[in-house]
Amino acid sequence: MSDKIALIYASKSGRNEKVAQYLNQQFATLKQPIELAEMASFPIEHLADFAGVVLVSYTYYEGQLPDEAVAFFDALETVDLRGKYYALTGSSSIQHRYFGRALDLFDQKLAHLGAQRATAVLKINLDSDRADLARLDAFCQQIIDFAQNNH
Ligand SMILES: Cc1cc2nc3c(=O)[nH]c(=O)nc-3n(C[C@H](O)[C@H](O)[C@H](O)COP(=O)(O)O)c2cc1C
Repeated sequence: MSDKIALIYASKSGRNEKVAQYLNQQFATLKQPIELAEMASFPIEHLADFAGVVLVSYTYYEGQLPDEAVAFFDALETVDLRGKYYALTGSSSIQHRYFGRALDLFDQKLAHLGAQRATAVLKINLDSDRADLARLDAFCQQIIDFAQNNH
C-alpha cells in the first residue's frame, strides 16, 4: 500500500485551513507524501488509497461536528479502516463548554472502526501561537514515527 497520508480539513473562518496548510508544509519538509483536501468535497472511497489520515477540524455549537463534516463522519462507516492510522488536530475555542469536542467524536468513531491513533489529539485554542506551531511540528514527527514503526 502507498505510504501517503490524506490531510483533510474543515474550516469556516480560516483557522483550520491555516493549520492544514502548515501541516502540509511540515510533512513536505519531512519528505512525507501527503494529499491536502477539504472535508466537504473529499470522496470517502478515496481513503482506501492512503496509509493514514490526518483530520483537522473546528467544533461548532455545543460541541458539535461542523455541518460540512457530518456526511464525511457518517460515511466513514462504509470504508475499511482496519490497519490504517489516524491523527486529529484543529482549532476551536476554550471559551466554549465542549472545547474541541468534534475531535473527540472523530477519535471515538475512528477507533471504533478499527483504525489506530498515531499520536495524541492536539487541540488548539483559536489562532495558533508559536507554542502551537511547535506542537504541530512534534505532531507531524510523531505520525511519521508511528507509520515507520507500525507499517
Ligand atoms: C457559533 C459558534 C459556536 C462554536 N462552538 C464551539 C464549541 O462548542 N466548542 C469549541 O471548542 N469551539 C466552538 N466554537 C469556536 C470555533 O471552533 C473556533 O472559532 C474555530 O477556530 C473556528 O475554526 P475555523 O476558523 O477554521 O472556522 C464556536 C464558534 C462559533 C462561531
